[in-house]
Amino acid sequence: MTAARRLLVRDLEQLVSPAGAGAPLRGRALADLDWVDGAFVLVEDGRIAAMGRMRDLPPLDGDVEELDGRGLCAVPGLVDCHTHPAFGGDRVEEFSLRAAGASYEELHAAGGGILSTVRATRAAGEEGIVEAVERHRGWMLRQGTTTWEGKSGYGLDRDTELASLRAIRAAGGVPTWLGAHSVPPEFGDADAYLDFALADVLPEAARIAEAADVFLERGAFDAAQARRYLEACRQAGLALRLHGDQFTESGAVPLAVELGARSVDHLEATGDDGVRALASSDVTGVLLPASALVLGRPMPPGRALVDAGAAVALATDFNPGSSFCESLPLVCALAATQLGLAPAEALVACTVNAAHVLGRADEVGRLAPGYAADVALLDAPDWRHLAYHLGGELVHTVVVRGEPTRLR
Ligand code: NIG
Ligand code: FE
Repeated sequence: MTAARRLLVRDLEQLVSPAGAGAPLRGRALADLDWVDGAFVLVEDGRIAAMGRMRDLPPLDGDVEELDGRGLCAVPGLVDCHTHPAFGGDRVEEFSLRAAGASYEELHAAGGGILSTVRATRAAGEEGIVEAVERHRGWMLRQGTTTWEGKSGYGLDRDTELASLRAIRAAGGVPTWLGAHSVPPEFGDADAYLDFALADVLPEAARIAEAADVFLERGAFDAAQARRYLEACRQAGLALRLHGDQFTESGAVPLAVELGARSVDHLEATGDDGVRALASSDVTGVLLPASALVLGRPMPPGRALVDAGAAVALATDFNPGSSFCESLPLVCALAATQLGLAPAEALVACTVNAAHVLGRADEVGRLAPGYAADVALLDAPDWRHLAYHLGGELVHTVVVRGEPTRLR
């Protein structure tokens, strides 16, 4: 029998983790953390074996690799539950036009926006997509993200959608089929495109992806089309997600609640009724403040959702158009300064609550015995620098399944 491979992270300034064992945490419990000053974490074979105060560290026999945690704080590896990493090209030109006053919806209507990335992604081919997803995954890791969801949605043809999902899965992401992101130019209308997507792409997409997502919005898919797409995807065994209430309240929240979706994401336009409906449901509201910031949109009602008792998560929405941002620490800073969330609430929202959206809350998002040994070690005397250090180089070392990588 071979001995267990062990890693001891010792002499940490602090270790914090979402409290308890359930998910999602909501209402007042969203701020509940287990917080240990002067801490250790012991990892065995990629899982957390023990953790606690240094003075309670038992003597360890045999081989143990040690990592010096002085000056560092341990938080769970961050979980990004909403990203679009499978794309070719960039949109820096459009960004420059928007900076000078053009609107996102105008650019989209003129064939720019999502559709310009669709052209670039189709042109990149499978190899180019694999390379892009790998590159973007590396960027996320450098910001402390150890679990991430990735959506397709920039192919909108069979080959490119399936290549995107395969690339996401091969890079270790959790794949979501965003087959209803936009209507590609070769189809006259949304219903004709959905006929094709559901008949020709869904059967294979459902073998690779874990969830399906739809952009329910003026100029994309309406509530009836979203329902048709999501019902077919659910029938094929996929969990359901929605991009909803980004620009207009078009029925995404009631549809998500009715269909038992995992999440509805964006919510910049959500009013009081939507907040109440989410609060009395099991649907998680995924807040994407970097996207609201970049597009100059109102921020989603984060504080109101938390106070009403809704389950919320935070994510980057990393994509080439509305949020070219892979940093969950930056998103935590936006949550604290723009959404009215305390640092503790922000941390829980991008760890165990985000893991819940991905159906992985028993596995990742907490530092507790039995969980995956995914840890972000922050170069800070207090873990709350996660939300306080705006745009800082915060992540010193990232541990993935017990394997440490020093970043700076
Ligand atoms: O979540 N809103 C729809 N989809 C993405 C943006 C896609 C793009 O602009 O390329 C989002 O913001
Ligand atoms: Fe998105």
